[in-house]
Amino acid sequence: MIENSNKKVVLITGCSSGFGLRIAARLASLDYYVIATMRNLSKQNDLVGEAVLRGGEIDVLRLDVSDINSIKDVVRHIKEKYGRLDVLVNNAGYGIGGFFEDLTQEEIREQIETNFFGVQNVTREAIPLMREQKRGTIVNISSISGLYALPCFGAYNASKWALEGFSESLYYELIPFGINVCLVEPGVYKTKIFHENRRCAANFFNTRSPYYELSQGVQKRINDHIKVVNRDPEDVAILIEKLINLDRPPFRNIPDTSSKIIYALRRFLPFSLFSWAIRRLMRPKSK
Ligand SMILES: NC(=O)c1ccc[n+]([C@@H]2O[C@H](COP(=O)([O-])OP(=O)(O)OC[C@H]3O[C@@H](n4cnc5c(N)ncnc54)[C@H](OP(=O)(O)O)[C@@H]3O)[C@@H](O)[C@H]2O)c1
Repeated sequence: MIENSNKKVVLITGCSSGFGLRIAARLASLDYYVIATMRNLSKQNDLVGEAVLRGGEIDVLRLDVSDINSIKDVVRHIKEKYGRLDVLVNNAGYGIGGFFEDLTQEEIREQIETNFFGVQNVTREAIPLMREQKRGTIVNISSISGLYALPCFGAYNASKWALEGFSESLYYELIPFGINVCLVEPGVYKTKIFHENRRCAANFFNTRSPYYELSQGVQKRINDHIKVVNRDPEDVAILIEKLINLDRPPFRNIPDTSSKIIYALRRFLPFSLFSWAIRRLMRPKSK
């Protein structure tokens, strides 16, 4: 077992790509023990390559947030090898696009299963270690979609809104044990969530769906928006590195300026005005 080291021990979920990969590679290149997990270890090459490039060492382990045994195995490994856990970053997740009636119940359940219950599954196993040592930080990657909703993203919005409420409650519950809970709520960043990992409702492309024209319009707007977005996912990794070194990190953390503005408008404008802007933004171009 590694003893008497001041290096923080960090467990991260969903490290095969996107934010998870960047957070793991960044922290590994700095002064942290990183346990980078992913559900499919055959996807580890990008992460390992990035870590080598940056000069860091990473413990890569299999963890599917919906598979309790895989979580227990990882936590057991951490106890045996490191003897403690200082930071948990609940990052794994995906987004399914589709209007409510175009989505099946299974698709909605699976979305909540991963983005919400998945976070709870990992957190449940991590808390006892942190509670025993009377310190720790849990960072939950939510989304700006956890703070306002858009048509065609109801399932994703629901998963992140649930995560927001749960995290806020957990924040209070864990303070007496010296454990910090905070949220990171990014806007749009070009990761695989909008490409290889993008998912669409069963009836998204069904031309007979009453929502067909609307959903194709939303898809076009999102695609056009993604093309011009030039934010660097590394900014999210930088923010997380800052948060895990604060004694009392701020609870809500929005990394990009436009999402900060959207959130401010959502909070301070009357809903009638805010929703008018969203309706205009999302309506099909021909209307
Ligand atoms: N990119 C954005 O614009 C954005 C904005 C706001 C919030 N977010 C949030 O940021 C987080 C990371 O997303 P990303 O943008 O980095 O997308 P990404 O590149 O698609 O990465 C998502 C990661 O989550 C993993 N994952 C999915 N389901 C899993 C499961 N059941 N168990 C373990 N891992 C699982 C994926 O693994 P596989 O490779 O096996 O699928 C992948 O490693 C998500 O929670 C997402 O909601 C992203």
